[in-house]
Amino acid sequence: MTIMVDRDIAEIGKTSFIHDPREGDRSKITLAKAEGSYVWDESGKKYLDFTSQAWSNNLGAGDPRVIEAAIAQTRALTHARPTFNTPALLELTALLRSITPGDLNRIGYCLHGSSAVEMAMKLAFKNKPDAKHILVLQDAYHGRSITTMAASWPHPKNPFSAISPTFHRVPHPDAYRPRLGLTVDQDVDLCLQLMEDTITKGVDGGVAAIMVEPIMGNGGHIVHPKRYHQGLRDICDRHGILLIWDEIQSGFGRTGEMFAADWYGIQPDIMTFGKGVGGGFPLAGIFASDKLEHFEGGEDQLTFGHFPVAMAAAVACVKAIIGDNLCANARKLGDYATERLQEMSARRKLIGDIRGPALFVSCELVKDRETKEPSPRAAGEVFRRGLEKGVIFGESRYLGLGNLIKIKPPLDCSMEDMATALDVFDAILGELEAEGIS
Ligand SMILES: Cc1ncc(COP(=O)(O)O)c(C=O)c1O
Repeated sequence: MTIMVDRDIAEIGKTSFIHDPREGDRSKITLAKAEGSYVWDESGKKYLDFTSQAWSNNLGAGDPRVIEAAIAQTRALTHARPTFNTPALLELTALLRSITPGDLNRIGYCLHGSSAVEMAMKLAFKNKPDAKHILVLQDAYHGRSITTMAASWPHPKNPFSAISPTFHRVPHPDAYRPRLGLTVDQDVDLCLQLMEDTITKGVDGGVAAIMVEPIMGNGGHIVHPKRYHQGLRDICDRHGILLIWDEIQSGFGRTGEMFAADWYGIQPDIMTFGKGVGGGFPLAGIFASDKLEHFEGGEDQLTFGHFPVAMAAAVACVKAIIGDNLCANARKLGDYATERLQEMSARRKLIGDIRGPALFVSCELVKDRETKEPSPRAAGEVFRRGLEKGVIFGESRYLGLGNLIKIKPPLDCSMEDMATALDVFDAILGELEAEGIS
C-alpha cells in the first residue's frame, strides 16, 4: 500500500490509499535506495530528504547498526505471540525505561502510531471507567484509524464519522495568530479557561483524559508556551483527569531533548511514541505512569504487537541516538537553521513565521506579513522546485492553510547538508520573488 499525493495545490490534502498497479501511477517518486539523509529514485537521482520520510527517520536511513541488529534478529526469531517475552523486548523495555520521564515506567507496544494513540485512550478509559469523553485540541492530528481520525482536526472528507466516537475539540493558543487581537498570554488564559469550562459545563458525563500533541505537528507546527501545557497539567490534577501527550512526532530527539516532556519539563500520565524509535522499522507504543491500573490479558493484545525485528532495530536505534549525542546535534543543526531562516526573512518577504525547536523547524509562507494570509501557492512551488533541485522539503497540507515548509532532516544530518538545503530554499524564494509569485 502506498500513499498517492496529488501535487496540484487546489487538491492539497487529496490522497488515495490503495495502490492499484494497473494505474501505473507515476505522479510520485519511486524510492529505490536510502542512506543517511539521502534517498535515490529509481532513475538514480539523489535527493536530500529533509522530511526524514514521515519525520520518522530520526536516525539517518539504513544505519548499519540498525540493519545488522535487524538481520541478526531476523535470523533468530521474527514472530512471537504477545503472551511470550523475547530478549529483544526485554532489552528494549529496559533501555526505554532508562530514558522515560518520571514514573512513566510501564510500556505497551504496537506497530503504528494510530494504534498507540488508541492504546493510550483505552488505558485512560480503563482508569476512569465512569468517564465518557476525551478532550482534544482543534487542529490536532492523532492518526488515521477510525477513532484517531475522529480525534484529529475535522478531515474534510472523513466518511467514517458516522461510526466514530465523539471527541470534543477545544481551542488552543496560537502565538502567530492569537484570537481577537489578544496577546499570546491572554490567548493562553482564554484557552485554558475554555478547556476548564468544557470539562465542567460542556460535556455530559465525565472526562477521562485531555489528549494533546505537546508540539502540534501536522496541524501547523504550533509550539505552545510552557504556561499553556502547565495549565493543562494543573486542570487535569484539579479535576482528576489523565493527561495524554501524543509524542509520536516529537519523541526521540526531534525537539533537541529525548522527549518534548523533557523539553517542557512537564510530565503527562500517558505518553505515546512511534516514528523515530524503530530506525525505519515499524514500532510504536505507550509509556504509562506507575500509578495507573494496567491492561489485563486480552485487553490489548495484537498478533504482531511484539515484533522482535523492529524491537531489535529499536534497541540499536535508541542506543545510537543516545551514544552519538543526537539530541545535542539536533539542537546545533536546529539553531543554525533557525538563525539562517531569520536572516533570510529580513530579505524574503514570503517568510511569515519561523518555528522550532531543534529539528522541528518550519516556516509559514505568507502573501502578506500584515494580514498573514497564507500562500499555499508559494509553498507548493518550494516543494516542486526543491524536488527539481534535489531537496525534498516537508510540506503541510494543514487544513485551510497548506503553506508550511518543514525542515526536518534526520538528527544525524551533516551541517554541510543543512547548509545546502537552506541555500536551495533561499534560492527558490528568490526565484518566486523575481517571478512575482506570492
Ligand atoms: C502526533 C501524531 N500522532 C499519531 C500519528 C499516527 O501515526 P501512524 O501514522 O504511525 O499511525 C502521527 C503521524 O503522523 C502523529 O504525527
